[in-house]
Amino acid sequence: MTTSGKVWQLAARPTGFPTPEDFRLVTEELPAPGPGQILVRNEVMSVDPAMRGRMNDVPSYVPPFQLDAPLEGGAVGTVVASESPDVAVGDSVLHGLGWREYALLDARHTRVVDTTVAPASAYLGVLGMPGLTAYAGLLDVAKMRPDETVFVSGAAGAVGTLVGQIARLRGARLVIGSAGSAEKVRYLVDDLGFDAAFNYKDGSIRTQLKQLTPDGIDVFFDNVGGEQLEAALFRMNLHGRVAICGAISQYNNPDAAGIRNLTLLISKRITMQGFLVLDHWDRREAFVEEMAGWLREGRVQVAETFVDGIDHAVDAFLGMLRGENLGKMIVRLT
Ligand SMILES: NC(=O)c1ccc[n+]([C@@H]2O[C@H](COP(=O)([O-])OP(=O)(O)OC[C@H]3O[C@@H](n4cnc5c(N)ncnc54)[C@H](OP(=O)(O)O)[C@@H]3O)[C@@H](O)[C@H]2O)c1
Repeated sequence: MTTSGKVWQLAARPTGFPTPEDFRLVTEELPAPGPGQILVRNEVMSVDPAMRGRMNDVPSYVPPFQLDAPLEGGAVGTVVASESPDVAVGDSVLHGLGWREYALLDARHTRVVDTTVAPASAYLGVLGMPGLTAYAGLLDVAKMRPDETVFVSGAAGAVGTLVGQIARLRGARLVIGSAGSAEKVRYLVDDLGFDAAFNYKDGSIRTQLKQLTPDGIDVFFDNVGGEQLEAALFRMNLHGRVAICGAISQYNNPDAAGIRNLTLLISKRITMQGFLVLDHWDRREAFVEEMAGWLREGRVQVAETFVDGIDHAVDAFLGMLRGENLGKMIVRLT
């Protein structure tokens, strides 16, 4: 018996900002699971900035997507057939074969999650990869200490909303964020408890940041790169730490200008470190325990934006790159 479902393929490698023509939706027939395999009906899938990088044919920490082959990414779904002793029909599993309605894969490449404790989407966001990125990047890479001033760029996104909230809960003195609209800026301050935020599209970034950080910045968690990184370096305090998490302002702009003030690293003895969440899985247990506690106590707000239907997965991906999401962008498939 086969199962038929829709799946997105990469039809062309984007140059600059991706377009809908770079993707193709096809129907595939999946065989029944073989020994050790399970068949999953995906319920939610993630669209992430890092997927843009995998569309380029360049060596990186994960192999590039192949042309005319399915895209991949985080997803949570329900097991509908199982030939594995470890995973039962009806279980919810987290796995890496998103961008499709049905996933056939080895059970050992999945993790059973409890969707009665938190909704499936939480395992792609607040309790999943973006959450751990925020936690490890802020506490282990940037080594934030209580009473410090923290600036996070891309603050209204999946990672950024959590960085700011974790900083506040761990005793930061001042938490400042940047985002791309007045509505997002309001949300950061009014709903998430940031001390202040600014719209980076609204006048000089350097001037706005200077006004909001009269005592400088101790920790900069950078999701954006480019002009915001340059502006933050001007405001960093002596021995400040910069965690380079992402550079989304540059992903669709291969000709982006470089950072012109790196000599400030010397005079201010700044530590700047790039990191990948992949290297921080050993912190997952501590992170989930602390984050689950905050969620139970209502001390962390979960921001999610939903787009419905596999047919709209590319719209969700392009929308996320354009900033149409508040918090984690999730595609709901059922
Ligand atoms: N190092 C790691 O292991 C790791 C893991 C996960 C994510 N990341 C990185 O972390 C960053 C955030 O990821 P995420 O999943 O949380 O995505 P996200 O912030 O939820 O979504 C992307 C956001 O980027 C902003 N953006 C788009 N173009 C921009 C530009 N030119 N300048 C400034 N902002 C722009 C948009 O918000 P606005 O409306 O504010 O523009 C958009 O909502 C990305 O750079 C990603 O690559 C790194």
